[in-house]
Amino acid sequence: VHTEKNNLIQLQEEAAKLYHHVLVNTELGVPALKYLHDRKITDDMIETFNLGFAPGQRLLKPFFENKKADYQLLRKSGLFIENSDGELSDRFTNRIMYPIRNDSSKTVGFSGRILHKDPDIPKYLNSPETSIFNKRKIIYNIDLAKPSIRNEQNLILFEGFMDVISAYQAGVKNGVASMGTSLTNEQIYQFNQLTNQVYVCYDGDNPGQKATKRAISLLGDEGQFTVGVIQMPNGIDPDEYRRKYGNDKFKDAIKSARETTVSFELRFLKTQYDLSNDEEKLNYVDAALNVIAKIDKPVERSVYLKQLSDEFELDMNALTVQCKQIRSTFINKRQRKQVRMLKTDTVPEVL
Ligand code: GTP
Ligand code: MN
Ligand code: MN
Ligand code: MN
Ligand code: MN
Repeated sequence: VHTEKNNLIQLQEEAAKLYHHVLVNTELGVPALKYLHDRKITDDMIETFNLGFAPGQRLLKPFFENKKADYQLLRKSGLFIENSDGELSDRFTNRIMYPIRNDSSKTVGFSGRILHKDPDIPKYLNSPETSIFNKRKIIYNIDLAKPSIRNEQNLILFEGFMDVISAYQAGVKNGVASMGTSLTNEQIYQFNQLTNQVYVCYDGDNPGQKATKRAISLLGDEGQFTVGVIQMPNGIDPDEYRRKYGNDKFKDAIKSARETTVSFELRFLKTQYDLSNDEEKLNYVDAALNVIAKIDKPVERSVYLKQLSDEFELDMNALTVQCKQIRSTFINKRQRKQVRMLKTDTVPEVL
């Protein structure tokens, strides 16, 4: 059927084919191909992810005009920018092109990366929102990852497209990424259709850790998951880690660097305090107790209390007592909230 959405998808698919052709078969694509090879991306992955190159000149416009494509459709595709006279020109120029597929493997948009650092232009440029490209819903690589997510019974959430591709190349095929770092409820809902175990494997830098905190709390609030965290050693991102240490070490890290969200939170919290200072050390212990007190399982609580006790040579009994106090205030708050909810529930009946 020739609905407008189908026509828009057709356009994206043709654009992807053309960008890919330019990358792998033409002189114009040589620097981009070299860039990808330097990043240790194989030709196999270039095919699997249908990577391409948008050269620094008119490409899509003459191509689609020759094919007599409908002007209104071209406008709506997001592949062009429009000047005040309504003239279209290619939106993506001089960028490595990552086609973005929906869960039925149809290309619905693109992200384009510059080859060389330039402070004046964004590193990645995404297609704008269109009727087929909704950034809140799109999950990069969900189509290829689906079978592995089901097999492995877990999903790994990466920060960037390059991390997903890099992991896939190493044989870690259950990886996906959201568009940019802000995970949405819509994406979490889709994860939950596939699995109840999610690992957040964002970058080890500060923005990556902050995004991890946000992601684990959103996953906890909006989904039914066991959430874990994976952080590559040395504060680098997963793709850099694989490039530096190879596929096997990368795969080891994916397995061995798994930690609970509590252990991640405590580790992150610790970086916020100057532990050589007694007062700050106590503040850290206080903050850590607040994290630990939220754990529902008593044995799990005691594991982290023991760690804290060992690390700072603190009396285990004192820690346990204080944790209990904090916990009772949480529970009181929770109960008060439940009572409030009960009261409002019964209001209509009373009336
Ligand atoms: P590489 O430098 O290619 O390895 O990118 P990366 O995947 O390591 O990206 P980074 O950690 O800098 O950012 C993670 C994700 O944030 C990217 O995959 C993009 O989705 C998004 N992002 C990064 N920079 C930009 C930008 O300039 N504009 C937009 N719109 N998104 C960006
Ligand atoms: Mn090909
Ligand atoms: Mn990052
Ligand atoms: Mn990164
Ligand atoms: Mn990177």
